[in-house]
Amino acid sequence: MSAPVAVAAIRRTQAGNFTRDLDLTRDELLYLLDLTAQVKKTPGRYARELAGQYLSLLFEKPSLRTRLTFELAIKQLGGDSILNVGPVGEREPIKDVARNLDRWTNAIVARTFLQKTVDELARWSKVPVINALSDLYHPCQALADVFTLREHFGELPGLRLAFVGDGNNVAHSLMLCSARLGIHFAVASPGEYEPNPEIVAEARALAAQTGASLLVTDDPDRAVAGAHAVYTDVWASMGQEAEAETRRRVFRRYQVNETLLSKARTEAVFMHCLPAKRDQETTDSVMETTQSVVFDQAENRLHTQKALLLMLMAH
Ligand code: CP
Ligand code: NVA
Repeated sequence: MSAPVAVAAIRRTQAGNFTRDLDLTRDELLYLLDLTAQVKKTPGRYARELAGQYLSLLFEKPSLRTRLTFELAIKQLGGDSILNVGPVGEREPIKDVARNLDRWTNAIVARTFLQKTVDELARWSKVPVINALSDLYHPCQALADVFTLREHFGELPGLRLAFVGDGNNVAHSLMLCSARLGIHFAVASPGEYEPNPEIVAEARALAAQTGASLLVTDDPDRAVAGAHAVYTDVWASMGQEAEAETRRRVFRRYQVNETLLSKARTEAVFMHCLPAKRDQETTDSVMETTQSVVFDQAENRLHTQKALLLMLMAH
């Protein structure tokens, strides 16, 4: 699947941050996928690569996977992390927070309500800033997802990925990564929950370069027809709990259940970033089917983030 990557050859990224998916060029993204395969196969080879380096973890919202996989990733690379849970920029300006953390640690990982908080941290920090989920993007999730697809299907260009549900942060990141990599992407959402039109336009421009298609529809059957992968996420994201009841009504026909999954290819996989709400956006039977790769995705969060940290932090 990928050529071995020599430790000495770890490439730094041009942007220096990972605030959004497009901070990685297409070449950098492909390189990250190759490096991930290598890190996953021979983790011991990288065990001291970030020795003595520290990550600041800032979490405004709960997390199981993202927080623990970043903690584990930096430890398995020889470094360590410190954590602050709570609002960023409430007790003092974000620009001051950035200029404290960059004196103590070598990179900042931030899960925030607003993308502009991540952008403001990156504007002021002298060390790399990584988006661990915001209102607009979940770029670390998309890395693990495309890696999982490549492990499963071998090649990415020409695959068909269908996202059914809320046009949210996870959908945005998947759409951008798919367009970058030549994956045909279809998203089915109720009208007022479509993905952000500016991000769709950005993805369309990228897709035109890679020969990928991008379909935005309100019809789940149309989105999943011919799909190699059917993806869904919660209907109410963190911070939208007050809308949960309304969303349950609006999204009812967007549930990824056995009937909808059967309309994709017979070899299709089921994907979810987790946490999942069974009997809302999906069902227990779909989660537990042999087509489900949700725990491969969760495992690959660790490996892709190790590759990302190496590309942002290795000297
Ligand atoms: N998928 C994901 O980001 O999970 P957490 O919210 O648990 O980090
Ligand atoms: N869209 C979800 C993803 C959780 C990993 C949220 O933002 O809560």
